[in-house]
Amino acid sequence: MAADRTNLTGAASSAGEGGKDIAVIGSSNMDLITYITRMPGEGETVEAPDFAMGFGGKGANQAVSASRLGSRVLMLTRVGNDLFAESTIENYRRNGIDTTHVLPTEAASGVAPIFVDEESRNSILIVKGANALLSPQDVRRAEDQIAACRLIVLQLEIPLETVYEAVALGKRHSIPVLLNPAPAQPDLELEKVRDCQYIVPNESELSLLTGMPVDSLDDVRNAAAVLLEVGIANVIVTLGSRGALWMTRTEDRLIPGVAVEARDTTGAGDAFIGCFSHFLVSTGDTATSLEMANRYSADSVTKRGTQSSYATKEEFEEILRG
Ligand code: RIB
Repeated sequence: MAADRTNLTGAASSAGEGGKDIAVIGSSNMDLITYITRMPGEGETVEAPDFAMGFGGKGANQAVSASRLGSRVLMLTRVGNDLFAESTIENYRRNGIDTTHVLPTEAASGVAPIFVDEESRNSILIVKGANALLSPQDVRRAEDQIAACRLIVLQLEIPLETVYEAVALGKRHSIPVLLNPAPAQPDLELEKVRDCQYIVPNESELSLLTGMPVDSLDDVRNAAAVLLEVGIANVIVTLGSRGALWMTRTEDRLIPGVAVEARDTTGAGDAFIGCFSHFLVSTGDTATSLEMANRYSADSVTKRGTQSSYATKEEFEEILRG
């Protein structure tokens, strides 16, 4: 779409010397993943077949997937003062992410106990820890570096005021903002995120944001239309294995998903956003970026873990060839 290209190219030309492609402002967690046959009932102890620990957090996952695909990524996040903090920072570095604004904090690091069942479905608890302390002031302090990026990517595992500040910063500097409203937050004020270029909810997040049903594709369309009415330019609803619905005031396109045998769907939504962001800044083409994101996230669910399931650029090129 020409309109998309113009937007991103315009932002790119204003990027400063040494500017990055994508600024991710969001969470860092340590994922504690237990593979279960069933959840214990009250007072019951049940043996689980396997456990794995890995780097996670929706912000971190999106940053890592975009960076593995070749984008230059700046991360603004808070980590704690415990044994998880150092390895989290090291993980960002290993993945080629700029850690200037990864801020050690007098708090516990964010953690996410995750349960994955034999049908590959997951249930996630999050303990926000240091993520809850990422403040609007932190965003303002990083303004110059964020303003030199071509796309700002946000999720909702940090305080809403911080999200609103980042949206305002994007507007001030004419940088497109992509908001992934996950996990769903009933308190999110749509008016304060209306300047986002992209909002990317899944079906249940869309339903919570709009108070509307999402039982059929037509329901999803009607609910997405509410977000367009608010002023958001592009609404992309992720539909799991069915793909993604992209709506603007003039477009209505279903980009079909890719059928795979799922082993672990944890972090697939983040893989989608990271990949979409990467291709959006490199091609400026929303439809192509969505096709790539469908393929990348489908590949991620065939492997266990969160970031451990994200392909590198070379691996993804191989997948596209194959
Ligand atoms: O989207 C998956 C992520 O949600 C996990 O990595 C976990 O940390 C939670 O933030």
